[in-house]
Amino acid sequence: MLIDNKEIFKSAHGGELVTNQSKELNVTEIKKLENLKVDISQRVLSDLELIVNGGLSPLKGFMNENDYNSTLESMHLKNGVLFPFPITLPVNHEKKIKSGDVVGLSYNGKIVGYVEVEEVYKRDKIKEAKAVYLTDDENHPGVAMLLSESDFVIGGKTYADLNLMPNNFKKYNLTPLEARKTFNERGWKSIVGFQTRNPIHRAHEYLIKCALEMVDGAFIHPLMGGTKADDIPAEVRLRCYETLIEHYFPKDRVILGNFPATMRYAGPKEALFHAIVRKNYGCTHFIVGRDHAGVGKYYGAFDAQKLFDELPEGSIDITILKFDNAFYCTKCESMATLKTCPHGDEAHISLSGTKLREMLAAGKIPDKAITRAEVAEVLIKSMKSK
Ligand code: ADX
Repeated sequence: MLIDNKEIFKSAHGGELVTNQSKELNVTEIKKLENLKVDISQRVLSDLELIVNGGLSPLKGFMNENDYNSTLESMHLKNGVLFPFPITLPVNHEKKIKSGDVVGLSYNGKIVGYVEVEEVYKRDKIKEAKAVYLTDDENHPGVAMLLSESDFVIGGKTYADLNLMPNNFKKYNLTPLEARKTFNERGWKSIVGFQTRNPIHRAHEYLIKCALEMVDGAFIHPLMGGTKADDIPAEVRLRCYETLIEHYFPKDRVILGNFPATMRYAGPKEALFHAIVRKNYGCTHFIVGRDHAGVGKYYGAFDAQKLFDELPEGSIDITILKFDNAFYCTKCESMATLKTCPHGDEAHISLSGTKLREMLAAGKIPDKAITRAEVAEVLIKSMKSK
C-alpha cells in the first residue's frame, strides 16, 4: 500500500530535502574543472557524497565561516538549525583560491564534483577538536584525522556527480530519496535506522529486533566509508550483514543500505550526526545503544544518549530508541539487559565490536553467544585469507 503523502519525500532536517546539488558532469566540464582543483581525502569525499545526495540536508555545500563558528560554539547553524559539527573542505593555502572561483574536487586523481567558492578562511583546529571530539589528544583517531588536514578551508555551494563516486558497494546504494521511495513502496510508516561500523554481533541483532517489535521496518545502514585501520574492512562487514539478514531476519522487514560516511569516532556528537542523517534518509526512529560512535575511553557509555536528552524540544524530528548495555545471559539463555535480567555478572557474556575484533585477532572462534555461527564463519574466512 503506497502512502499518498508527498510530504514524506520533502520534509527533512531543518526544512526540505536537498536534491539539487547532484549534477551529471560531461567530459568537457570535467576537463575545465581540471584547471583549478583540490585533492580531497576520503573523509571529504564521504561528506561530499552526503551533501549531494541530501543526507546532510539542510546543507548545500561545505560550511562558510559563520556556520563553522556557530556549530562549534552552539551546535547550531547560523540560521538556528541544530547541527553537531562543521563540515569542512580543507585546501592547501598555496593554491591561492578565492571567492568566485569554481574549483574541481578530485579524489585519487579523478574529478568527482566542484565547489562554487564563497569563502576561504582559516580555522582553529584545536578549538574544533575540543568542541567536536571533546579532546585535542592526537591519539584520538578523529582528532588525528583533523590535525592532519589543512588549517585553511573552503566554504560554498557544492555539487557532484554521484555516478562518479568511487564506490564498491553500489548494489546497496540508496540515496535518501531512493530510501524514502523504497520504504513507501513497502508501506512502512515507521522505520528504525541502525548505524553500525562493526561486524554484526548478537547485541546489534537484539537491538534491531527489539525495535522491530515496535516499528514497521528496519533500515540497516552500515557505515562503509573510512574507518580506523584495526576496524574490520567494509566488504567483510557487509558480508556479515547479508549473512545475518539471510538467516535471522524476515526479509520483508529489513532493508540493507550503504551509508557512505567516514567514521569520526566523535561519540555523542557523531551520534547526533548519525541520527540527523538517518532522519534525512526517511527514518522515523534511530537506535542509540552503548558507547555509540565511541572509541577507547574518551566518552562515557551513555553520553550520546544524554546529549539527546538535553536537546531543546523539537530540535530533531526523529525518535531515539535508547538501549542499555546488552549482553548474553547464560541463565536466561537469551540476550538481555539489566532492565530485563535478574542474574549476576557471572552469568553475563558481554558483547562489543572491540571484544569481537580482539578474539578474531587472537585466532579465537567467537562463541554463538557472541555472534551467530554463520557470521563467525564469514569473519574467520576473511581472517584466514588475510
Ligand atoms: S558504532 O561506532 O557504529 O556506534 P557499533 O557498530 O559497535 O559501533 O554499534 C552500533 C550500535 O549498536 C550503536 O548504537 C551502539 O551504541 C550499539 N551497541 C553496540 N554494542 C552494544 C551493546 N553491547 N549493548 C548495547 N548497545 C550496543
